[in-house]
Amino acid sequence: MLCYPHGCMSGVALDGKRIKEEIEQELRPRIAALRERKRAPSIAVVLVGDDPASQIYVRSKIKTCAELGITSIDVTPDSKISTEELLDIVDSFNRDSAIDGILVQSPLPNQIDERTILLAIAPDKDVDGFHPFNVGNLVANRPAPRACTPAGIIEMLKRYRISIAGKHAVIVGRSNIVGKPMALMLLHENATVTICHSRTRDLAAECRRADILVAATGKAGLITANHIQPGTVVVDVGMNRITNETLAMRLVGYDEKRVAAFRKNRQILVGDVDPQAMQQISSYYTPVPGGVGPLTIAMLMSNTVLLAEQHLQ
Ligand code: GUN
Repeated sequence: MLCYPHGCMSGVALDGKRIKEEIEQELRPRIAALRERKRAPSIAVVLVGDDPASQIYVRSKIKTCAELGITSIDVTPDSKISTEELLDIVDSFNRDSAIDGILVQSPLPNQIDERTILLAIAPDKDVDGFHPFNVGNLVANRPAPRACTPAGIIEMLKRYRISIAGKHAVIVGRSNIVGKPMALMLLHENATVTICHSRTRDLAAECRRADILVAATGKAGLITANHIQPGTVVVDVGMNRITNETLAMRLVGYDEKRVAAFRKNRQILVGDVDPQAMQQISSYYTPVPGGVGPLTIAMLMSNTVLLAEQHLQ
């Protein structure tokens, strides 16, 4: 909390749901135009096995498709499927001209060679932007489908008119899905970028140098008050379902409603950042849930529509 003689301020929550709705409203006329030309945008979603978290994510992706008039096909092969069998599924969607986008939900079971699967998705159907061809386009700052979560974060910062150029952005986490593409997108917006990871010396000191801090580690509550400088914009990408009571109380103990929710369900969804510290010290922050999560889906819809428009051309 920043305190001045006339009172105290805390961070403004960035409303991912509102921005998602805004993006969806902008997509509706484009989807209608495609449908008028008998070319409804369509996505094939492949969910291997029965990971509960992945099931929830895929369900909400498919629900959003239905709300917007994007056709979705979902296939749910058994967790024991081989790489070759999964390649056959991907290939059938590659050859199907009615399909604009292919999404293979990760994580995949251990026996699957994930890189081989990613390489097999036709780059012009790569709604996730994970294919090396599209990653190359991102590096070169050329138009191509972009990884949805970092693209959504950039969209959110822009729509809230949070300036990026010249700012020092610190990203914690170096995954191919978030950390690395996030660094490139912020760089293309003219931020000065630092990427931190598990081998970074004095993580807290690096984080305190951030004007914009993006936490994408998958470690609940890793980022604490000690990592946040007053006024920092804090983007929490973490989606961690925790069951450990001590950790849950450390992170949400200040919030009666969330304590009650934990006592009832014996689990709770938290980010990578201590929520109270984030609210009190930041200038703007993304809450978990309701911050970054909805934007990932919005950008998936946006990528699908873009690919459909390109396929029509
Ligand atoms: N698993 C977690 N996030 C994502 C994502 O954005 N795309 C896919 N395909 N899998 C994920």
